[in-house]
Amino acid sequence: MGVSAKFKPSVIGIDPFAEETLRAPEAFERAALLAGPVLYLPQYDLWALARHELVKSAFTDWRRFSSASGTGLTNIRKAEVWRRPSLILETDPPEHSRYRKIMAAILTGKTLTRIRDQFSQAADELAARLVAQGRFDAARDFAEVFPFIVVPTMLGLPQEVRHAMLTYSELNFNAMGPDNFLLQQSREKAAPILEIVAEYCRREHLSDDGLGAQIYAECAAAGVGEDDAAVLVRTFFSASMDTTMNGIGFTVQSLAEHPDQWAMVREDPSLVKAAFDESLRHRSPSPYIGRTTACDIEIDGVTIPAESKVLLLVAAANRDPRRFEEPDRFDLRRKTAGHVAFGVGIHACIGQMVAKLEAEMALAALVRHASEIVLDGEPQYQMNNWLRGLTSLPVRTVAA
Ligand code: HEM
Repeated sequence: MGVSAKFKPSVIGIDPFAEETLRAPEAFERAALLAGPVLYLPQYDLWALARHELVKSAFTDWRRFSSASGTGLTNIRKAEVWRRPSLILETDPPEHSRYRKIMAAILTGKTLTRIRDQFSQAADELAARLVAQGRFDAARDFAEVFPFIVVPTMLGLPQEVRHAMLTYSELNFNAMGPDNFLLQQSREKAAPILEIVAEYCRREHLSDDGLGAQIYAECAAAGVGEDDAAVLVRTFFSASMDTTMNGIGFTVQSLAEHPDQWAMVREDPSLVKAAFDESLRHRSPSPYIGRTTACDIEIDGVTIPAESKVLLLVAAANRDPRRFEEPDRFDLRRKTAGHVAFGVGIHACIGQMVAKLEAEMALAALVRHASEIVLDGEPQYQMNNWLRGLTSLPVRTVAA
């Protein structure tokens, strides 16, 4: 006797990694949210969850939804890997706890206070210069440039390796997805710089006053070797650049699209924090996170077999109408608490306070210098298997 339809997953025919879906993911996400609770994508032998409640509970259930086989589509314990796995992102407790503790020891309130002034000054100079031009590309010249100035300095990376680090990050995110044209392109682009990146994460290349040096010091204190410290520096960098650039770019886009909300942040600049948070919900820069089932898992009568890859559809969950009213609308007045753009549970983004600080400083500076901002051309979207962002956001501004 066949299994009743009730106990089968909903098959989603739309390919999330096809070029047209990467450009416009809304149809895929809407289909995923309208389907049954457990989804299956046959072209990748991939399971998926889209509903907010289910994504959140999978994130918090690390014993059954494991990270140790990788958080992308590839099972890194079975397939050949192109780099050493991340010691924090791609591990489960107790290993994960050991490295998370090292990262937490450096990302303290004291660190944030120390970097706040550096961020604020850099943001002010950048925003003042761009707004004085009247027209600029808010993705390329602003959202990308600001983290590119402050993050490597915060880490203590030398100037000459910063572009190579971005090429590495792009490959890192594409490699989480399938082996498609995007991965092939970035593999070729990154081939000449892979060794350089590994080399520059070593202690001797990092400045004495940056967080990279602190990672080495914390590792030494915890009895963790230098090779592992280098992997933590690499993860820190690759997790922190593109995500933040994209989050800031999308926030500027939404504010430029909603003049009434731009007026609100002009009136009360502290609202830039709410605008960033709402933008992360509305257009999540990290749309997918993968897990691997440690055992058979039954959800609503459907069994996901052990050792299956499960895609947590973060961006879809953040637009689940069961959780957020009129989810497709950007509204900085909304209560965004509970969005899953930074993940949830033991792997929840450890750098979120840094990301929020960067966004706050960058957006507050823009709001201070520009009384008006309007779109001056079509936004162009980034093509990456595992990231969402803009490559271009032409704007016109009026100086305040
Ligand atoms: C808007 C910006 C950002 C977004 C949307 C974002 C998103 C995320 C998400 C969804 C996770 C969870 C991964 C999982 O559950 O497997 C994560 C983890 C992580 N993020 Fe972020 N992130 C951002 C910025 C940053 C920054 C600025 C840093 C570093 C300063 C950072 C460092 C990390 C690290 C190290 C982890 C792994 C934590 C763990 O596995 O315990 N992220 N991030």
